[in-house]
Amino acid sequence: MKPEMKVSLAGLELANPILAASGTFGYGIEFEEIVHLERIGGLVTKGISMEPMAGHAAPRIIQTAAGMLNAIGLQNVGVEEFISRKLPPLRRYPRCNVIVNVFGSTVGEYIAVIERLNQATGISAYELNVSCPNVHAGGMAFGSDPSSLEYLVGRAKAASARPLIVKLSPNVTSIAHMAKIAADSGADAVSLTNTFLAISIDAETRRPRLSNITGGLSGPAIKPIALRMVYETARAVSIPIIGMGGITTPEDVVEYLLAGAAAVEVGTASYADPRAVERLARGLESWCRGHGVERVASLTGALEIARD
Ligand SMILES: Cc1cc2nc3c(=O)[nH]c(=O)nc-3n(C[C@H](O)[C@H](O)[C@H](O)COP(=O)(O)O)c2cc1C
Repeated sequence: MKPEMKVSLAGLELANPILAASGTFGYGIEFEEIVHLERIGGLVTKGISMEPMAGHAAPRIIQTAAGMLNAIGLQNVGVEEFISRKLPPLRRYPRCNVIVNVFGSTVGEYIAVIERLNQATGISAYELNVSCPNVHAGGMAFGSDPSSLEYLVGRAKAASARPLIVKLSPNVTSIAHMAKIAADSGADAVSLTNTFLAISIDAETRRPRLSNITGGLSGPAIKPIALRMVYETARAVSIPIIGMGGITTPEDVVEYLLAGAAAVEVGTASYADPRAVERLARGLESWCRGHGVERVASLTGALEIARD
């Protein structure tokens, strides 16, 4: 029997729980000839700001032992070009949810981007990036200070005509506490985690390898930590959780669901295999069939803990 792969999340209907993660799938449309976009639950765009941004100088990406270190610096075309050129072709794939990742260096900028996006069609939800470790203003500064987070999420929710997902930073003492603040301030869902603040140093030159000195670590190296954070967050909030960090196999997806995620995002894996998201959607369905799981949604939070 074919398992039911659909999941609902914060008012969205996803064909399956696999989403492409922000910053690793362009604006989405670049992948239309590589991935059947309607065979994944949706995609999260690159972070969009009010004005275009060039990002940091190269080198911006470094390979590490079990992951990737990046300091892109939120390069993007800005909200006007996104709406006029990147979004329209995505409307050819109505079953693929388009979630727009939003950021600003001030609260006012975040709100201005959301208000502009509210006027566009073909968007399912917003993902508020309060967690980028690679910019000086905004980003992680909002996601690591409880009162700034509370204020920003409250304002963003009031401005938003669509469901609001708040993307949390792992670079805090308790991500579950930050998730609770986001939920209490009106977030419809939280997504976690963004990348872990890290550094790579070249012993020969005695210099940092990234032009920005520090960057964000992603990929398999972070999976057990991000998974623990999803598990802890699931105990702290009742809004849906989108889990991510180092997913490369269908079993990784199942682990995130068991820990409490309703859906997942897949990032770094798309660099190694641009079809990774579609492969994972297919692989998850086979996993469910092979394990007698009739509804993928039944896996969410189904972690069994021995209580002897
Ligand atoms: C090159 C690169 C660029 C990224 N850009 C963004 C971004 O613009 N906004 C954002 O919220 N997250 C961004 N991220 C973080 C990812 O969306 C994701 O949270 C993180 O990489 C962990 O997932 P992964 O291990 O599957 O890559 C980026 C990650 C990478 C590797």
